[in-house]
Amino acid sequence: MPQSSSVRIVVLFYRSINHRPSIINQMTDWESRYLDGDTPWDKGAPAPPLIEMLERLAGSLDWNDVLVPGCGFGHDVRAIASKGVRVLGIDLAETAVDGARNYPLAGHESYRLADLFDRSWWTPAGFGGWWEHTCFCAIDPSLRLHYAEAAGALVRPGGWLCGVFFLTPHDPGDEDAGPPFRSSVAEIDDLLAPWFDRVDGWVPAVAYPGREGREWTAIYRRRI
Ligand SMILES: C[S@@+](CC[C@H](N)C(=O)[O-])C[C@H]1O[C@@H](n2cnc3c(N)ncnc32)[C@H](O)[C@@H]1O
Repeated sequence: MPQSSSVRIVVLFYRSINHRPSIINQMTDWESRYLDGDTPWDKGAPAPPLIEMLERLAGSLDWNDVLVPGCGFGHDVRAIASKGVRVLGIDLAETAVDGARNYPLAGHESYRLADLFDRSWWTPAGFGGWWEHTCFCAIDPSLRLHYAEAAGALVRPGGWLCGVFFLTPHDPGDEDAGPPFRSSVAEIDDLLAPWFDRVDGWVPAVAYPGREGREWTAIYRRRI
């Protein structure tokens, strides 16, 4: 049925305020990277600092349900799930999510094709935990506040944001290239400060080859 111009304007206005396009997709075409097999970040195994953290905390972390943003092929998701934790991995690249789903189940893990910044899938129940690994450094620095807002909204009060942050991915002289984009402990602390208190942080003793001394593991608690 033809729409009158006033009806069309109302429809367009409604769509514009409800549609949140993927701002990330306009910057890095992650799906193409996966389709081309151009995924140097994928090491085929969980992040060594995650294994270190899981051993160091050995069950003292009360995070029954964990979100892993930008999970890629889900190696970290499965490492956490193998500890008996329910884990949801999200990624905006369909090929990554399909690839993650092709691995045998390690526990109670699942995957979802979703943009971290698209609030339509944000569950009001939230999560008890959040595991960060090469999602923060992958997004454009101008969007880091959105990352922090998502974490503040999705981690329940009393819950945990844990992660390994790839602080200095580049050699001297090449610092502004990316992704991955560099960051600092002070910047991450400041971004998360409206919602989280940092309770621990250390340079991991183990790393993928080439990342030694360039990463930082941190544990933040969502304020009640
Ligand atoms: C550098 S890769 C790291 C993947 C995985 N963490 C790993 O280490 O193998 C960054 C990932 O974040 C995903 N990503 C980027 N922006 C995203 C967003 N806004 N929402 C969900 N996933 C996103 C990309 O598709 C990609 O899989």
